[in-house]
Amino acid sequence: MRIDVITLFPELVTGVIQHGVVSRAADKGLVELKLWNPRDFTQDRHRTVDDRPYGGGPGMLMKVEPLLACIQAVKQENPLARLIYLSPQGVLLKQNLINQSVEQGNLILLCGRYEGIDERLIELEVDEEWSIGDYVISGGELAAMVCIDAITRQIPGALGHQDSAQQDSFSGGLLDCPHYTRPELINGLKVPEVLLNGHHQLIQDWRDKQAIGRTWMRRPDLLGEMELNERQQGLLKEFIAESKLT
Ligand SMILES: C[S@@+](CC[C@H](N)C(=O)[O-])C[C@H]1O[C@@H](n2cnc3c(N)ncnc32)[C@H](O)[C@@H]1O
Repeated sequence: MRIDVITLFPELVTGVIQHGVVSRAADKGLVELKLWNPRDFTQDRHRTVDDRPYGGGPGMLMKVEPLLACIQAVKQENPLARLIYLSPQGVLLKQNLINQSVEQGNLILLCGRYEGIDERLIELEVDEEWSIGDYVISGGELAAMVCIDAITRQIPGALGHQDSAQQDSFSGGLLDCPHYTRPELINGLKVPEVLLNGHHQLIQDWRDKQAIGRTWMRRPDLLGEMELNERQQGLLKEFIAESKLT
């Protein structure tokens, strides 16, 4: 999968590319990342990338011509990619959207700065707008880094352990179960006994029950979006009964 990123601050985005899962996936050739700076497409001596908004008011916008020239150059190299504008006004990013994007293939991520970009560029060039949450950050770079990381994790072969992504929160619509590592006892708190007995089916049942129970307690909205099968309904009943005892 190829992801191009259009940003006035490429050095910010290199942080996610040069470390951890994304860097290893790039080394394996699973994901190809290229950064583009609209400043390289300016024509004036000062390499201007911002401009005043029509109608006045505070703040600047990204200057249209260098951004448009940059977008067109990226599209020439990556013609089948969908262009995503990172924006607080976009559709909220969820795991489903991330998984779908991996299936749909190449992407161009456009990072806004200042007050954003000219509305006509959105009409002309942008396929979708994505938001990472109902809050405003100063530029699209952090949002692009979130997308790159979340997408790369879903590319088959990108994670060390093949099943890791399938066990994470949201993958089956539920939150992940709690996890424990050594030591067995810390400040009076013990690892749940079932995890120590080596009985794989009992461990799986416990993990599934915790995942459903935790989702019920913390994110009941997620349960409302899915249909629990009979086994899951049973596990949830057990979880609720046990939580009343403690
Ligand atoms: C200061 S914001 C501009 C906000 C814009 N004036 C608005 O209120 O919709 C600058 C840039 O940060 C990015 N950005 C800000 N919040 C975001 C969010 N929640 N999700 C994705 N990108 C965001 C966008 O690329 C945006 O163009």
